[in-house]
Amino acid sequence: MARIIRRLIAAAMVCAAPAMAQQVAPPPTLPLATVKTSPLLVSADMRDGLDLSGPWHYSIDPFRAGLAGFHGEMPGDSQLRYLDLDVAKAMKDDNRAMYEFDMARSPVTTLPSSWLTEAPDLRYYQGLMWYQRTFAAPANHKGRYFLRFGAANYATFVYLNGKAIGRHEGGFTPFAFEVTNLLRDGDNQITVGVDSQATEATVPPPVTDWENYGGITRPVRLIATPDTYVDDAWVRLTRDGKIAVDAHLDGAQAANHAIRLKIAGLGLDLAGTTDAKGDWRATVAAPRALIRWSPEQPKLYDVSISSGDDQWRDRIGFRTIEVRGPDVLLNGKPLFLRGISLHEEELGTDPTRAMTPAAARALLSEIKDGLHGNYVRLAHYPHSEVMTRLADEMGIIVWSEVPVYWRVAWSNPDTLATARNMVAENIIRDRNRASIAIWSVANETPVTDARNTFLRTLVSDVRKLDDTRLVSAALLTERSQGPDGKPVIAMADPLADALDVVAINTYFGWYTPDRLDDLASFSFRVPANKPLIFSEFGADAKAGFHDPRALPEKFSEEYQAEFYRKTLGMVDRIPTLRGMSPWILKDFRSPRRQNPEFQQGWNRKGLISETGQRKQAFAVLAGYYEGKER
Ligand code: GCU
Repeated sequence: MARIIRRLIAAAMVCAAPAMAQQVAPPPTLPLATVKTSPLLVSADMRDGLDLSGPWHYSIDPFRAGLAGFHGEMPGDSQLRYLDLDVAKAMKDDNRAMYEFDMARSPVTTLPSSWLTEAPDLRYYQGLMWYQRTFAAPANHKGRYFLRFGAANYATFVYLNGKAIGRHEGGFTPFAFEVTNLLRDGDNQITVGVDSQATEATVPPPVTDWENYGGITRPVRLIATPDTYVDDAWVRLTRDGKIAVDAHLDGAQAANHAIRLKIAGLGLDLAGTTDAKGDWRATVAAPRALIRWSPEQPKLYDVSISSGDDQWRDRIGFRTIEVRGPDVLLNGKPLFLRGISLHEEELGTDPTRAMTPAAARALLSEIKDGLHGNYVRLAHYPHSEVMTRLADEMGIIVWSEVPVYWRVAWSNPDTLATARNMVAENIIRDRNRASIAIWSVANETPVTDARNTFLRTLVSDVRKLDDTRLVSAALLTERSQGPDGKPVIAMADPLADALDVVAINTYFGWYTPDRLDDLASFSFRVPANKPLIFSEFGADAKAGFHDPRALPEKFSEEYQAEFYRKTLGMVDRIPTLRGMSPWILKDFRSPRRQNPEFQQGWNRKGLISETGQRKQAFAVLAGYYEGKER
């Protein structure tokens, strides 16, 4: 299993040339340090490490002068912000020296954050930003050291002490580079270039319906491990009642090495030996005392895998998720997914996509306690591990997805490689999260042969990486008229055959002139033998805007509330409906939404405003879910 992963990533990383390189001729060769394979460092957020959050210098580079010269060649020193020198001193000491940057004297921001909220003149900046700080390496450091990024949006170029150590494409998944041989005693200088510019070849493409928060939006940490460490581990309950473990050691002692899985709370202690490649796979009957994870009882166990000097740790819930005909079964019992969708954006008037545990809890509590929910669609990209770990702890089932959104370059091999890498990085990061039940590969993508081939590849990758969860995608439908003249909504997407759960987004009565009273006459033609989720439906409302008339104006709270009442009535009649994640919990920033009275750059389909003010529709959905809870 672990080898499949590395092959997938290696293939993707090799092909996933930073798509924005197509905009600027890529520099001939950034002397990337020899990165053997991208370290996975699964559950690295549970390892001790030096957190590099806090003040960093920043410097914009809108014409990417730090990556390519005026004819596309390797830039000269005068533009290389990562150089390991004191610019001011160098120019004072030698009047031939000239630099068009000085990171140590550039403005300071606080990471993790997006630069959009750093200064008014950066609010709409999309492009390359350079960040720099210094840090002291741990004294008499031994073992191995890795720089791990929780996420940086979108393409990232990392340098340490003046040397390029790696690059990454993708704005929402973790990546790490080994720096063992580059660390020095005393101060180390890290410089990071982050380019937020989307292109036709990136994932997502330029046109989306959410703010493109450029920046280092999740923590950067220096992680220390022993010379041989547990790089990947996946511990789960199989559908036939076993505890299964897949682990991979990286390092000189990886092969044929003693290794041990312990779950103290279950009295489980399983010893084994890795194979010649450092892999270990084992299964053992699940102890009878096992308490299975569920929204009602989100039991997590302390799990450790030890080998040599290393001890890998995680907190894992054990449960099974499967489909049987039109039912979704959690631990063998049918359940209804009482959910809502959510973007990664904290409450407040000026969010910067910095999802702290407190910010995540404020949002998930609205779902669990406010809405009586048990489910959340983390749209439209992998959210912070803070969010998925909290969902484990609070007992909220998760739909996790990659930003294969709308018009993707289906025939571009680089784009496919980038998407495959994102799927692999997302699943590898979160395969130990009990809360995650569904991996989604796409949202509202136009049906073509190239798109079907592209998405079927992603579905196949998901199944290779994780055979314990469900695969889905948010699909569109086709509308026609029945013999009685009433609307017939059909799920005719050929991708549905490849999915475990079919999901559809509908906005009848918001983006269409349908009267809300007419929704009751809609009928749906969907697969009879698969669970159906409404992955989206919603209407905008400006919190506090009221229209008491019998036919309230759109953007009023009354219209949104009536939209929910009538849409819930419509979907509730579909016999295979097994869940929903209406669009959306909280108003979120979207440059596409510019009605000056109601939107002002915000998508207002939230059931709560950006400051958390509940709208009338909140109570409509909460009441519906409370009824489902019984
Ligand atoms: C689409 C899309 C969302 C978007 C929503 C809307 O379904 O998936 O990303 O925000 O509709 O129009 O508000």
